[in-house]
Amino acid sequence: MHKVKVALGTRTYDIKIEKGLFAEIGTHVRQLSLAEKAAVVTDANVDALYGSLLQEKLEQAGFAVRRIVMAPGEQSKTLATLGKVYGELAAFGLTRSDLVITFGGGVPGDLGGFAAATFLRGVDFVQIPTTLLAQIDSSVGGKVAIDLPEGKNLAGSFCQPRGVLIDPEMLQTLPKRYLHDGLAEAVKYGCIRSEKLFSRLEAVVDDEALLCGIEPIIEECCAIKARIVETDEFDTGERMLLNFGHTLGHAVEKCFNYEKYTHGEGVAIGMHMLTSRTEDRGLTEKGTARRLKSLLEKFELPTEAVLPGGEVLATVGMDKKKKAQEITLVVIEGIGRGRLHKIPCAALPEYIL
Ligand SMILES: NC(=O)c1ccc[n+]([C@@H]2O[C@H](COP(=O)([O-])OP(=O)(O)OC[C@H]3O[C@@H](n4cnc5c(N)ncnc54)[C@H](O)[C@@H]3O)[C@@H](O)[C@H]2O)c1
Ligand SMILES: [Zn+2]
Repeated sequence: MHKVKVALGTRTYDIKIEKGLFAEIGTHVRQLSLAEKAAVVTDANVDALYGSLLQEKLEQAGFAVRRIVMAPGEQSKTLATLGKVYGELAAFGLTRSDLVITFGGGVPGDLGGFAAATFLRGVDFVQIPTTLLAQIDSSVGGKVAIDLPEGKNLAGSFCQPRGVLIDPEMLQTLPKRYLHDGLAEAVKYGCIRSEKLFSRLEAVVDDEALLCGIEPIIEECCAIKARIVETDEFDTGERMLLNFGHTLGHAVEKCFNYEKYTHGEGVAIGMHMLTSRTEDRGLTEKGTARRLKSLLEKFELPTEAVLPGGEVLATVGMDKKKKAQEITLVVIEGIGRGRLHKIPCAALPEYIL
């Protein structure tokens, strides 16, 4: 069992990572909650693969269970779905001493977490993430949200779970594109904080070997995120480091209507294009962009895109990270060494186009 503590005073919790943990999931959830009822917020793909088994295990641990199943994908992360989830929680008679379990990727995680943060002014929740992205990123750190027609993650909250339970075996059923999508975030952690992690990823020969040795990779990613969140829970400073590759990445996703590129693919393009530019400007050690490119390519992630310049700038200009006339970019001085770098907004095209 690999364990990462997220130390946040009274909101402290553990992330448990173990292959085969799902077989004992009822016991693990019971250790975190004395609730009578557990409402599982999940999507139809995850539910079809693992929903009834989860219900059985939870019932064996003494919970009354209701599965609340949304359609898969980002298009479900809406106010309308949230409304339906609230309705089902109310119909189930969930009380403040009961439990919400988010079960799936970042979409059920973010939406179910937001439902838990707000239903009855807050009920406990436990995250059981099943995509690599959710296991190394979205389930850790307590950001929960839904999208609005005006933009992604525009309504949300900070709300830490009671615990995060990760079974990397569940990644065996994850379509390859999503596995690689999550790897972009693992590469990001290596870039900003750990050359050791980056080298470990460079040593991976194929997807099978990756899944075989994934536990320490998940552990290190979670530990990096946990340490950053501990110093800046509410995202006013150091947590911005986690946005490496994301300013441009979000713009790439948006310019192609969230259809051509996944989030991780956008981030891969963002990390590489920015690092090429910062290398040219002498802010990044020579050879870093090349090293980054070959790692991303190994995981079949894109590293360049031809972007409609005006549209990208308009998108980045609207980015919520922008402040007044300055913008803070996350740059890397070399692999493992991320830092915040303020530039005037007017200089932005030189960095990202
Ligand atoms: N809260 C945060 O800090 C944070 C951080 C990063 C991303 N996010 C959010 O995460 C979301 C993206 O997460 P995601 O990529 O996990 O998306 P997702 O939840 O849509 O999952 C991707 C796909 O994988 C399927 N799936 C999930 N687990 C599976 C499994 N074990 N086997 C087979 N199929 C499986 C899902 O049904 C879905 O089709 C975005 O909404 C993003 O905003 C949040
Ligand atoms: Zn991301």
